[in-house]
Amino acid sequence: MRNSKGLWVLLAAMSGSAVCASVDLSDFDDDLMRGMDDAVKTLDASIGSKDAQAVATDARFIVDGLKWTEGYFSRKGNAEDAVKLAAQGHGLAEEIAAASSQNDFDAAFTAYRSLVKTCRSCHDAYKPPSL
Ligand code: HEC
Repeated sequence: MRNSKGLWVLLAAMSGSAVCASVDLSDFDDDLMRGMDDAVKTLDASIGSKDAQAVATDARFIVDGLKWTEGYFSRKGNAEDAVKLAAQGHGLAEEIAAASSQNDFDAAFTAYRSLVKTCRSCHDAYKPPSL
């Protein structure tokens, strides 16, 4: 049976208060997260300079990374919100790549801003505050 309390914890976290859901993260891939952090930063610059090739490379890295993240939390169980945010995030990264391949860098940037929010929402709820 699924416990719906987790959702309320997430909603509380998203509305500003720092609540940390309890998931054992000892086998989490921090290197991957740092790689995504780099990719998000260069993505911002590449969208700004309308470099579709570079956007595609970074977007692809983030799609793969967030697919891993989605699978990770789905294996953990009891972390539906994390699974949802990761799925939302790789969907947005796909959108960024698709929009920039059509030279629509405004749409790419809109999706980029939403992507950064999904990173933050998951961190607010699941990342230990000490990090
Ligand atoms: C579904 C949840 C989730 C999403 C989405 C997510 N992260 Fe994370 N991230 C985590 C968790 C959990 C940790 C803490 C891991 C730990 O404490 O071992 C973390 C840690 C990090 C860290 C710190 C790693 C370190 O220890 O040095 C960075 C940087 C990071 N994430 C970047 C990103 C970026 C950029 C995105 C979006 C593209 C993103 N994350 C999306 C869950 C997520």
